[in-house]
Amino acid sequence: MTENSISTAAGSDTDSRRLVDDLNGDLALEFKSIVQYVQHVATITGPEYTSTVDELKVHLVQELHHATVLAEQVGFLGGVPTTEVAAADLSGTSREALQTDLDLETEQLQRYRDRVQQATDMGLPDVAEALRPLLTETQEHVRDLQAALGR
Ligand SMILES: [Fe+2]
Ligand SMILES: [Fe+2]
Repeated sequence: MTENSISTAAGSDTDSRRLVDDLNGDLALEFKSIVQYVQHVATITGPEYTSTVDELKVHLVQELHHATVLAEQVGFLGGVPTTEVAAADLSGTSREALQTDLDLETEQLQRYRDRVQQATDMGLPDVAEALRPLLTETQEHVRDLQAALGR
């Protein structure tokens, strides 16, 4: 092995570790999403939010799928999927709870954009393809919550 190929291999190991760490960060945020939505479907009240709560229940099921996909990618890359849950924000009014959900979805949307690009740049098209549906569904979640908040 030449000196150059050693440093290239070390560099790709570092990138791979960073991707695993970032995916585990995404996973901890999906667990946070699940905790928040479980709380919010039970606490958001008012006739104006009946259909919103139904939508949140759909999100909740999709978040569990997102968490599973992320854990599978971490495993595929040789890492251990985290069991850490990013601390969930406690909600106030129904509107504040929905704003909290929107903030989290918006953060996740940016993270998935970054992650798809990162996997693509690393020459990992399988990982990028696995993550793309998470990006699309998170865009939908952002739109649903914006609509629920009248934006
Ligand atoms: Fe999600
Ligand atoms: Fe979501």
